[in-house]
Amino acid sequence: MTYARILATGSALPERVVTNADLEKLVDTSDEWIRSRTGIRERRVAADGETTGDLAYRAALQALQDAGVKASELDMVVLGTTTPDIIFPATACLIQDRLGANGCMAFDVNAACSGFMYALGVANNFVRTGQVKKALVMGAETLTRMVDWSERETCVLFGDGAGAVVLEASDEPGILATCLHADGGYKDLLYNPVGVSVGFSDEKNHGVRIRMSGREVFKIAVKTLDALVDETLQAANMHADQLDWLIPHQANLRIIEATAKRLGMSMEQVIVTVDKHANTSSGSVPLALDAAVRSGRIKRGQNLLLEAFGGGFTWASAMVRY
Ligand code: COA
Repeated sequence: MTYARILATGSALPERVVTNADLEKLVDTSDEWIRSRTGIRERRVAADGETTGDLAYRAALQALQDAGVKASELDMVVLGTTTPDIIFPATACLIQDRLGANGCMAFDVNAACSGFMYALGVANNFVRTGQVKKALVMGAETLTRMVDWSERETCVLFGDGAGAVVLEASDEPGILATCLHADGGYKDLLYNPVGVSVGFSDEKNHGVRIRMSGREVFKIAVKTLDALVDETLQAANMHADQLDWLIPHQANLRIIEATAKRLGMSMEQVIVTVDKHANTSSGSVPLALDAAVRSGRIKRGQNLLLEAFGGGFTWASAMVRY
């Protein structure tokens, strides 16, 4: 049996830190409100001219270096993102060229906040079927580009960042299972209506910004993630007590705590970065994974459950033997 093994991870964040106190100056909010509802203390915001591709490129360089893999060895470059640099070419193509991996397949996956998990699921299947030996899988966003800084309901929630993993085909267990789902019936609860085919301008709706029904998203996310973690355990033929770490999408600490409770895991076994990064959408899971690998918490041979939920709705997971 061929598995996709994670050889190494990488991540990148913009330099600029925006704290809850900074946001208190922009909108009618408070550090206490943001922390108690979401767990967020600060987020990073990309500099003018700094793009999703720039962040992903930095994360990719780090992952490739730590993996000891040359860009020219890659068979696949895939990026989960909902904030590409430009409409086309895909940001994955721009990164591929900067890395010098020219010639291999390169494409973006848009599954909103589940983008990295979708990209990982796709890459895993290419590796398992023998078509790809080495893959670079990234999740990266500059979501703050579509945040309305005068809207307190959404502007406190999001941040920018990127993460990456290098996968290699191996006889040793790596990714044990992936589960990918979507239900477009929920499209109106979390979306950005500005687009190409529907037209660039959105004067009626006051420009490019995220629309979200927070309370509904919260409730459905908790319920859906409960079912997703059960499904993933079943797909990997495992029990919750075999898990070493939960690496959840970093949208809201209360959603994360609910999933941990469902799994009977203590918060000691959960990687939490939402306090520092806020919701970086596709960047969130690989950023959290990299932080935990670099700090030495995640060790080789451990079982990791990765999961995400986002606009679409989309939701996806992976069981990984690290
Ligand atoms: N600061 C202060 N008050 C705020 C605020 C802010 N930043 N944002 C909203 N409020 C107000 C609301 O206007 C509302 O006021 P009202 O009672 O006078 O109408 C009040 O706070 C409560 O709002 P509510 O929506 O009930 O809060 P909540 O407990 O549901 O928390 C979220 C709001 C957005 C934090 C929460 O619903 C959430 O996290 N949802 C999921 C969002 C998410 O994760 N999206 C991405 C998924 S990938």
